[in-house]
Formats: sequence, C-alpha cells, structure tokens
Amino acid sequence: MDPTDALALLMSPEGRLDPYPTYERLRAHGPVVQAGPVFYVVTGYAEADAILRDARFGVMDDALRDQFMPGWRESPAVLSISRSMLRTNPPDHSRMRRLAAGAFTPRRIAAMRDVVRAQADELVDAMLAADGPVDFMTAFAYPLPVGVICALLGVPAADRPLFRRWATDLTGVLEPEITADELAVADRGATELRGYFTELVAARRRAPADDLTTALVQAHDGGDRLSGDELLANLIVLLVAGFETTTNLLGNGLVALLDHPRAAAALRERPDLAPAYVDELLRYDSPVQLTSRMSTAPSRYGDVDLPPESWVIVLLGAANRDPRRYPDPARFDPWRAQIAPLSFGAGPHYCLGAALARLEAQVAFPLLLRRLPGLAVAGRPERRVRLTLRGHATLPVSVGREAAPVTVPGTRPGAAGPTP
Ligand code: HEM
Repeated sequence: MDPTDALALLMSPEGRLDPYPTYERLRAHGPVVQAGPVFYVVTGYAEADAILRDARFGVMDDALRDQFMPGWRESPAVLSISRSMLRTNPPDHSRMRRLAAGAFTPRRIAAMRDVVRAQADELVDAMLAADGPVDFMTAFAYPLPVGVICALLGVPAADRPLFRRWATDLTGVLEPEITADELAVADRGATELRGYFTELVAARRRAPADDLTTALVQAHDGGDRLSGDELLANLIVLLVAGFETTTNLLGNGLVALLDHPRAAAALRERPDLAPAYVDELLRYDSPVQLTSRMSTAPSRYGDVDLPPESWVIVLLGAANRDPRRYPDPARFDPWRAQIAPLSFGAGPHYCLGAALARLEAQVAFPLLLRRLPGLAVAGRPERRVRLTLRGHATLPVSVGREAAPVTVPGTRPGAAGPTP
C-alpha cells in the first residue's frame, strides 16, 4: 500500500480504532515517508526523537496557521490551544514554559502521592459497593486524574463533573483532521472552559490560595509575565492535558494488564515494579499517538530530504513499536531493558505533567490489582474513534471480591523477579 493510501486508512474510523497494522504499512516504506507534496510521516523511534529535539522544527505558528487553516482565529478552540505553551515556539514558549514549570515544582508533585492514594482508595470502595459490573472509565479512570489535577489547580470538588464533557469536546482539535461539526463541538468546550477559568482566576486574584492557579496568576520571572490570554490558555491546557491523557493511560493500561494475567500477578506481588510496568504500558499502547511539527530549514532524516515548511506528523505510537529500538515490539514485556517510550514527547515540549501522570499510574495499578484481584472485563470495551488521544469511551468490568491485603516482600526496586 502506498504511503498516501496508508495515511488515508489511518485517518479512517477503522484506522483510528486500531492504528497499529497501518503503522507497519507505513514503516515498510522507511522510518520517514513522504505522503504529500510538503507532508511527511515519521514512524522510526530514532528519527521521531531527533526531530522533536531539532531546533529546525517547531509547532505550527500563526503565520503558517493563516496559510493552512484560514479562519482559525474565529475558532475559540484553535485560538485557545494556539495561545498555550503546547502550540507556541521560542521565545514565547520558553517564557511560558519557565513560568509554568516554576509553579509546577517536583515538590508540589511529590506531595500529591498521598492525595492520589486516598482518592484511588475511595474510588475502589465505591466500585466494590456497586451492585454488578461498572464502567471502569466512569468509575475510576476519569475521576482519579480529574480529581488530582483539580486538587492541584484548586478547582472545587463539586465542579469536577463539569469538565469531562468540556475537555472531551475541546480535544477534538488535537486530531489531525476535524470536520466542521466536530470543530463546533470543540469551540463550545473551549468557550465553557474559558468562562469557568475566567471566574476562577478572578477569585484567586481577590483571595490567593495555596494552589497552582494562584501560582500561575502570580507567576513572573525577571519582569516576564503571562498575559491574560496566555494564563487562561495554559490553565485550560493543564486541565485538559492533565486528565484526558492520564484517563486513557489508566484505561489502556488496565486492558493490557488484564490481557496478560501473569504479568498482572507479578505486579500485584511486587508493587515496587510499578515504574517499569507503567513505562512499558505507555510504550505498548500510548495514550497520545501523535504530534506534529513544521520545519523552518532544510533537513535530512531516514534518507529523505525535508524542505523548509514541511509538515511532519510524528507517530509516537509507531515509534514506540519500532523493531530497530524494541525487539518483538508488539509484545507487552515490562522486563525489557531500557524502556524509554516517546509517549510524553521529547525536546522543548516534553510533557510538563509526565511525573504526575507516572505517579498516578504507579499508585493506581498496584492498588487496583491488590484490592480487586477478581477484576475482569465484563462486556465489550468501546474505543473512542480518535487517533491522537487513544482511549476508551467505555470499559465494563466486574470487580470480584476484595482480598485480604497482600504482604509485600521486601524487594529492591529493579531487582530481578519472576518472568511474567
Ligand atoms: C499519560 C499521561 C500523559 C501523556 C501521555 C502526555 C503526553 C504529552 C505529550 C506527547 C506532550 C508533547 C506534545 C508535543 O510535543 O507536541 C505533552 C505536553 C504537555 N503535557 Fe502531557 N501528557 C500526559 C499527562 C499530562 C499531565 C498529567 C499534565 C499536567 C498536569 C500534562 C501537561 C502537559 C503540558 C502543559 C504540555 C505542554 C508542554 C509544552 O508544550 O512545553 N500532561 N504531553
């Protein structure tokens, strides 16, 4: 199949639901392939990693947006994302990233461990109290990350249910292709989120609190500040990036663990192995499957010359399954050496929330396996028909009965253990 047809297949509902066979069709043409006059697709791990770190590539700026997406300024969704750090280049990106990173400190993240554990325990209690199968996405995968990011941002608990619809609507604009109807839905989500955060920011200006919203409102560094628009855009990106992705890590990860009962049993006995498991789950079925870059100067990757103003789709999910980097890449194997998935990206836009997402999953999976040893899929899981943010709409599970707490052997992290 030629690269253009393979790409069309990837964008189709069938390709979005299971992109992995199409990635292999693209990979057959090489790690970087041309799929249109100035349009390239990257499936190779080394090439994806290098392009994301290469200063000759940036995210699409306003001038290119004017060229490729006329009328984008009329869309509240595109406008909002374009003003956040996710879609800006230096010097604006470096300034926003520095200010946000200053508020998003490792201390603030590490302090979330007990909050994550307490929230996960409460959600498992509720799952156990349910009479019959539950939807794992609604019962656990959504409320845990949303609870954690809302706790960080200082969003009142009562407002959390508002965000699921708004965020799901808005993230439609992260797809490589979007219909006019989907854009209208995304615009509605952006407008709601902007209205919500405008009020929250005003409240924190009046009465500062010990939360990330206050820290961002007050953020300044050597005279640099966030403008009003940038503040709102980055708060929205933090909220949206902070849970839809992690929700999908929890859903995709649980399915992978239940498909591999011996590996799941090993993690139940050895929670100290959670970091390696979570990285392998991120590699095996990445919650973010792609990102894109524009080139500003000529470059050459994978025997392909990329002229300036090339649009490059970096398929993170394909790079994570590059056989030159990972032997037998379609196999889930938490015992692999040197797992370093590109699921959080690389280079200047490397995910600001990677430590938080890892923390949530590292706490959640051992806790779920220990407290719900009978956890099993109890119906047909339904995937969202999305390519960029890969996850489930519903995942019905039965929870079995609660077991007595498992005694954890005093093992060293990273020590050799049973082969799952
Ligand atoms: C499993 C969960 C997550 C995954 C897979 C993920 C993935 C990613 C990826 C791939 C990027 C880079 C996009 C690019 O290069 O174009 C990114 C950026 C970002 N992520 Fe995450 N993310 C996750 C969780 C989070 C969380 C929990 C937060 C915040 C609380 C967060 C906040 C951000 C922000 C602010 C950026 C933009 C950074 C920049 O542009 O400098 N993410 N994420």
